[in-house]
Amino acid sequence: MPSLFDPLTLRGTTFVNRAWLAPMCQYSAQDGTPDDWHLVHLGARATGGFGLLLTEATAVVPEGRISPQDTGLWNDEHVAAWRRITDFVHARGALVGVQLAHAGRKASTYRPFSAGHGTVPVDEGGWATVGPSASAFPGYAAPRALTRDEVAAVPEQFAAATRRALEAGFDVVEVHAAHGYLLHQFLTPLANERDDEYGGSLENRARLTVETVDAVRAAWPQDRPLLVRLSATDWRPDGLSTADVAAVARELAGHGVDLVDVSTGGAAPAEIPVAPGYQVPAAREVRETSGLPVSAVGLLDDPHRAARVVRDGDADVVMVARGALRDPMWPLRAAHELGVDLVTQPVAEPSADVDLAAVRATGYQPQYARGAWR
Ligand SMILES: Cc1cc2nc3c(=O)[nH]c(=O)nc-3n(C[C@H](O)[C@H](O)[C@H](O)COP(=O)(O)O)c2cc1C
Repeated sequence: MPSLFDPLTLRGTTFVNRAWLAPMCQYSAQDGTPDDWHLVHLGARATGGFGLLLTEATAVVPEGRISPQDTGLWNDEHVAAWRRITDFVHARGALVGVQLAHAGRKASTYRPFSAGHGTVPVDEGGWATVGPSASAFPGYAAPRALTRDEVAAVPEQFAAATRRALEAGFDVVEVHAAHGYLLHQFLTPLANERDDEYGGSLENRARLTVETVDAVRAAWPQDRPLLVRLSATDWRPDGLSTADVAAVARELAGHGVDLVDVSTGGAAPAEIPVAPGYQVPAAREVRETSGLPVSAVGLLDDPHRAARVVRDGDADVVMVARGALRDPMWPLRAAHELGVDLVTQPVAEPSADVDLAAVRATGYQPQYARGAWR
């Protein structure tokens, strides 16, 4: 079995290790444009040794933002702002993926550290939300049900953002189909009451996710990986089970998805037995059923636990979120605790005499590769 610090190759891309930064909203952008805060958030973790950094949920259209302060990728200004960040990350030898998202009925919400709760009203910079049906997420404003034509337009919105992601220099695209956002709202019976071909059976409810994956895959170069984040259970008897979601993942394997990022929950309030590694069994089931590589996430920041997840074959990759907010250098510390020789020689500026490809082939983050340069 591979170890946490072994490389992983998906299509034409080799990640130096299997310790990846999970997507995390920063709630700090204006009009969808990432700024110095996002550069520092991702830049710090790029030098911290993560094999892949994922951006926060980045909206494909303005009304797809979770909060008005989310990032986006719906115009050229966003492309330029992201390019500055991806250039910085690449110069440190790390790779970066964008998580493309539409929040649907959970859009236009106050950011967590705001005084307000629930839906931001229009006169405070919010907007009217949309969803598969007119039913509200508890505590939020009711959305308007998307028309059939509007549903059919969603995959192209993701594809257009994917083309901009390429221009912006991203290495990976992740489609966000988890946590009760638009694609998950279609997938789950808890939010989808449609009676057209996008509602009813699991196959129908999965249709929009499959069509979106097809559109993104067609817009994304063949040698670059495509990830999908799925909620592998709604934690409710009337919601999606892990077997349901694993079957969807198996279907997605035939549509060019390279790795499933396995999370859980978010479609509707539920009792979730949160504990270290609580989502790992779901990751394992999705991996076994779909035949695809998976990542596991959720209280995995103890390095020994993270290493076990990969070594035992529960998942191919471990993602860390809050642990990486506490410690941007989490992979370097984890490697040290696990006895892996990773940290040697930080380099503040990339220099012309460093052959990044040759250094990466050694399995090290270039900025820390021993003996690669003086
Ligand atoms: C501040 C914060 C923002 C988050 N934003 C996102 C997001 O934009 N997209 C997403 O898929 N998950 C998001 N998550 C969930 C994390 O990616 C991760 O799945 C979760 O925090 C569990 O991992 P952890 O125990 O390592 O924190 C967020 C989590 C935090 C703490």
